Amino acid sequence: MTLKATKTWFLRLLPVVLFFICYYCSQIYFDSYGSSGKSPKTTVSLCDINSSQRKWSSLHLNTSRHPELFLKLEDFFWREHLSNHSLPYGIKGSELLLLKVLAVVTSYSMPGNVESSLDCRTCVVIGNSFTVKNSSLGEIINKYNVVIRLNDAPVRGFEEDVGNKTTLRLFYPESASYNPGKHNDPDTLLVLVPFKQQDLLWLKEILYNEKRVRKGFWKPPPQIWLGRFSQIRVLDPYFLHLTASNLLKIPLNPRRQQKPVHPTTGILAVFVALNYCDVVHLAGFGYPENRNQQQPIHYYGQDTMKSMKNSFHDLNLEARVLKRLEEQGVILHLHS
Ligand SMILES: *[C@@H]1O[C@H](CO)[C@@H](O)[C@H](O)[C@H]1NC(C)=O
Ligand SMILES: *[C@@H]1O[C@H](CO)[C@@H](O)[C@H](O)[C@H]1NC(C)=O
Ligand SMILES: *[C@@H]1O[C@H](CO)[C@@H](O)[C@H](O)[C@H]1NC(C)=O
Ligand SMILES: *[C@@H]1O[C@H](CO)[C@@H](O)[C@H](O)[C@H]1NC(C)=O
Ligand SMILES: *[C@@H]1O[C@H](CO)[C@@H](O)[C@H](O)[C@H]1NC(C)=O
Repeated sequence: MTLKATKTWFLRLLPVVLFFICYYCSQIYFDSYGSSGKSPKTTVSLCDINSSQRKWSSLHLNTSRHPELFLKLEDFFWREHLSNHSLPYGIKGSELLLLKVLAVVTSYSMPGNVESSLDCRTCVVIGNSFTVKNSSLGEIINKYNVVIRLNDAPVRGFEEDVGNKTTLRLFYPESASYNPGKHNDPDTLLVLVPFKQQDLLWLKEILYNEKRVRKGFWKPPPQIWLGRFSQIRVLDPYFLHLTASNLLKIPLNPRRQQKPVHPTTGILAVFVALNYCDVVHLAGFGYPENRNQQQPIHYYGQDTMKSMKNSFHDLNLEARVLKRLEEQGVILHLHS
C-alpha cells in the first residue's frame, strides 16, 4: 500500500475508533456513579492535618485539643482534684454515683474502627433543625467516619435527608428514647450528657435495676430503657464547661437574679467534634426567625418555636458563634 492509501484508511476508521472510545468511557463513567444517570455525589473532602491544627488555634480557646471524650473509672483513682465544679460543668459531689455507673459500663473508648482512623477523622454533626428536611443529604452524611446525632432525633423514615449511620448519640434522660435500638445502629455509642445529679441517678437505677426516683426532671424520663449497657458512655463534663466558658463565654455561676444559661446539646456536640475530629461539618443547624412562633423547628414532630420560649439556652448567642466558626472556615454547614 502506498502512504496515501494508508492515510485514507486511517481517516475512514477514525470516526469508528472515536465512537468506541467514547462509548467505552461513558460505560466506565456510569458504572462508577450508578447507572441511574445521577450526577456524581460529592465525597467528603479530604483532610489536611496542618489545617485542622491551624483551625483549632484560630479559635483562641486557650486550651489544647482534648480527644478523650468519656469519663473512665481509673480517673477516680489517680486524680486528686478532678474538678472544682459540680454538674453540669464538673463532677464535684457526684463522684460516688459516677463510680457506681462506670463500674457497670466498663468500656470507655470510641469504637475501634473510628479510633484507628487516627491520621484523619471526618465528622458530621446532625442538628435536628427543620432546615434539613428535603435536603437529600443522607447519602453524603453516611460517608463521614463519625456521625453525631442529638437527643431522640429519629432516623428511620428520614434516611434520605439525614442518613442512617450513627456513631455517637448525645442525650440526657429527658431526651432519651425508650428503645435506642430503633433509630441507632447496634454499635452506636449512647453518650449520656449529665446536666444534674438526677441524670446520673437515673442511669444508675437502670444499670442496677433499682427503684426509679421520678423527682427532679423537667419531663418524665423513660422508666424502662432498652439501651445496651456495653454501648453506654458518659461525656466528660469538661466539654460542657469549655463550651460554656471558652467558646460561648457565658458565666458559669450567674448571679442570683439571673436566669442560668447552659449550652445546647447541639453546640456542645460541635465543640466535642472540634476536639476529636480533623474535619467538622454540620447539617440541620439553625432555628427559624424568632418572630414566627408557629414555624416548626425540627425535621420531625410538631414542636414550634413556642416550645423553646422558656429554655435555659441563648440561641442567638449560639447562632452568632456558629456563624463566626463558619466564616473562619473551622466548620462547614452542609446544604442541599
Ligand atoms: C504542613 O506543614 C508543614 C510545615 O509547616 C509543611 O511543610 C507541609 O507542606 C504542610 N502540609 C500540608 C498538607 O499543608
Ligand atoms: C488562659 O488560661 C490560663 C490558665 O489556664 C489563664 O491564666 C489565662 O488567664 C487564660 N487566658 C485567657 C485569655 O483566657
Ligand atoms: C481546684 O482548686 C484547687 C485549689 O484552688 C487547685 O489546686 C486545683 O488545681 C483545682 N483543680 C482544677 C481541676 O482546676
Ligand atoms: C418536601 O417535599 C415534599 C414532597 O415533595 C413536599 O410536600 C414538602 O412540602 C417539602 N417540604 C419542605 C419543607 O420543603
Ligand atoms: C443504611 O442504609 C443502607 C442502604 O439502604 C443499608 O445497606 C445499611 O445497612 C443501612 N445501615 C444502617 C446502620 O441501618
